[in-house]
Amino acid sequence: MNDLSDAAQRPGAEAFSHLGRSLEEIRSELGVDPVSVQSIRDPAVYELEREKIFKRTWLKVATDQELPEKGDYKVKELPVADASVLIVRGKDGKVRAFHNVCTHRGNKVVPTSGFETFGKSRANVLACRFHGWVFSTDGPLRSVPMESGFGKLDKACLGLREIACDSWEGFVFINFADPPEQSLAEYLGDFGKLFSGYPYNEATTAFRYSTVLECNWKVALYAFSEGYHVPTIHAGSLPGFRGIEHSDFKLIGPHASSTIYGLGMESAESTGQFAGVLHANPDQGPRPDLLPPGINPKRRPEFQFELPNIFPNFLIHLAAGCGYPGIAFFTHQFWPLDHGRTLWEGINYFRPARNAAERVAQFHINALHRNAWLEDTGTMEDTFTGIRSGAIDNMLLMDQEFMIRHADRSQHAYLAR
Ligand code: FES
Ligand SMILES: [Fe+2]
Repeated sequence: MNDLSDAAQRPGAEAFSHLGRSLEEIRSELGVDPVSVQSIRDPAVYELEREKIFKRTWLKVATDQELPEKGDYKVKELPVADASVLIVRGKDGKVRAFHNVCTHRGNKVVPTSGFETFGKSRANVLACRFHGWVFSTDGPLRSVPMESGFGKLDKACLGLREIACDSWEGFVFINFADPPEQSLAEYLGDFGKLFSGYPYNEATTAFRYSTVLECNWKVALYAFSEGYHVPTIHAGSLPGFRGIEHSDFKLIGPHASSTIYGLGMESAESTGQFAGVLHANPDQGPRPDLLPPGINPKRRPEFQFELPNIFPNFLIHLAAGCGYPGIAFFTHQFWPLDHGRTLWEGINYFRPARNAAERVAQFHINALHRNAWLEDTGTMEDTFTGIRSGAIDNMLLMDQEFMIRHADRSQHAYLAR
């Protein structure tokens, strides 16, 4: 954890007021022209993105709460970087990342299944099942069966190949560059300061969803980066929704954010009852007081959630129980598998339930939110097919879609480096 998360050093809302932009400023900085779909359509752009974005920026790959104890590990398959990444908490308590590659002949040290594999090393070692080389969870090669048979072997140089790894607010990031151009704190910059201090680590109940979508990763990212679609595509899951206000725009280096304020949502009676169960517990009800000082600085009661995009592929929606009852925050991530296939991962985080009634209420709210996500993901493959057809050359973006405009600009800046 870096010093950005030290609440005692955190400034008040006024320290962040320079980050907020008016609509006029956003239009003036980003323009109002149509944005080309060429970077979505062209497979050659995807190959450049792999090298210049995904192998050079900080990527969130885990959370502290996924690796609570020494010896806990997670393996993340990242085809975008041709990599299998082992993230492990060592005997000293530190989380490190390594290529999940045995230095003998390249077998995976931890066999994997699917895109994520979790496990625990009780003795703080990991053994490759091919020929039995043994590595410490902090990287060094510990033992080699029949070592004398190699004639000459410098074990000190044959540890697991380390990948730069750092944490921010309990989110674990890696960077494939060796060394990275910036530290994680430098990369997040003012974004890290603005969003630090929320008790992310207290929301330990997580509901996870993922699926592979037949679309370019940016189509999926963009569908979750704006609120313009809410009254239409979510008319099924949110029938009583009376509109939203998208404001408090922020452009922070390659990252961006804005606040969603709700103008009212008359939910079904059952949802209202389940929300009442959660709201009876001060820990599960709306907690705008917990928001970092620069988020919803005027503490407006209609705050729903903050919608930040951490470049290139990670969204943290900070809800504090205000948007959907009980949901502390939720995240989306979009992992390219190839030019036209994307692994989407969505996770809802709640504070732990005190009793069975709260647990059932959490299930209900989670299912409501899952239904909304099904409506979101349902557009993505059609959008990609439409873009690939050549029928349109541009996206026409309105104010609430400014983060798409900004993400496109950030991508082009990285591709030009
Ligand atoms: S490839 Fe791992 S021990 Fe041989
Ligand atoms: Fe949506």
